[in-house]
Amino acid sequence: MGDNILVRKIPADLRNWIELERQQYQMTQQEFVLSVLKDASTVYQPTLTTNSTKQVVGVTNYLPFTFIDLFAGIGGFRLALTKLGGTCIFSSEWDKYSQKTYKAWFNELPFGDIRQIDPESIPNHDILAAGFPCQPFSIAGVSKKNSLGKAHGFDDIQQGNLFFVLANIIRVKRPPVLFLENVKNLKSHDHGRTWKVIKEKLEELDYWVNAKVIDASGWVPQHRERIYIVCFDKRTFSDRPDFVYPVPESGSNPIFADILENAPDNKYTLTDHLWNYLQKYAEKHKAKGNGFGYGLVDINKISRTLSARYYKDGSEILIPQPNKNPRRLTPLECSRLMGFEDREIVVSDTQAYRQFGNAVVPKVVEAIGKEIVRVIDNHYKSSKRCLLKTS
Ligand SMILES: C[S@@+](CC[C@H](N)C(=O)[O-])C[C@H]1O[C@@H](n2cnc3c(N)ncnc32)[C@H](O)[C@@H]1O
Repeated sequence: MGDNILVRKIPADLRNWIELERQQYQMTQQEFVLSVLKDASTVYQPTLTTNSTKQVVGVTNYLPFTFIDLFAGIGGFRLALTKLGGTCIFSSEWDKYSQKTYKAWFNELPFGDIRQIDPESIPNHDILAAGFPCQPFSIAGVSKKNSLGKAHGFDDIQQGNLFFVLANIIRVKRPPVLFLENVKNLKSHDHGRTWKVIKEKLEELDYWVNAKVIDASGWVPQHRERIYIVCFDKRTFSDRPDFVYPVPESGSNPIFADILENAPDNKYTLTDHLWNYLQKYAEKHKAKGNGFGYGLVDINKISRTLSARYYKDGSEILIPQPNKNPRRLTPLECSRLMGFEDREIVVSDTQAYRQFGNAVVPKVVEAIGKEIVRVIDNHYKSSKRCLLKTS
């Protein structure tokens, strides 16, 4: 092959793209095409600009990206990232009831046990999203396991090691961005050791690590604090990106009354037996100086955190009713309280409560995701390259 290659019949959209890009970077056509070919020959290319059905980053404001949804639950990450222009190309969730909901909502059956996945078989992606299991790290999980005399966190083979399974996928796939979520007390769990191990592992994998606890109450009428960990691959972003966590829009004060159903079924009203029990239990604990007990919501304010245990007695969020015992939330109200809106519920009430109580709030993910997309877009525009790179 000589020094010159002639390429015939370049489609109009590609010609336009080359022209726009080379003008933006003040390159000649030859310089620009050569730089693209050089990148293509030397580095692995993620998918930011390769999906030909979508617009090219930098030419419009629309940023196509791909992501994977691990520990997917019912797809809180997926809902939000899809809204931002992302395409989900792989998911994993082993609970069969969550899989059922996921299939109904996204027409995709997630892969089961993450420990059985060969990381090499996961397609290359731009963002790895994962709300890794919180049970071994949550106060409830810790105290329950302590009281049972069981180990927890990294000593818990069943659950704790899942972070290392995740870390192995990150090591093999090296996605440019990691978007992780966990319970608020992740940082204080096991006297800070759990967080130290997680952070050090992510840094050892060569990522810039950001972490912040955010209360979802700026987006949904619920006090729900979760830690959001956002990491950028140092091999792609050589300088620490100017990523900032979002704050809720001023003036947006969602209140609990917004999520209520008009005529909920009577079965959600507490029986006399349960209501009496909850009141007695609360009195007993109050006498001992403990604050634990049921929570009656002021519907003009926000509720406590919906937990995965809500199906048991619903005591943390009870709705007062005139001349009746209070009632618990309906599954549809839980969906709204989490910001999933009016989605079809395809599982039993018990499973639905568990699924919503475990989920991430899509509106918070969307707000953080917007900021991630901004960082990726800036990186793309300033790097004089067409593609994000990883080696
Ligand atoms: C905190 S929840 C994540 C919820 C999710 N972010 C959502 O919005 O619904 C953690 C999920 O990890 C799943 N999980 C736990 N161990 C798993 C494993 N070994 N393989 C796949 N999924 C697993 C659980 O079934 C649970 O749904």
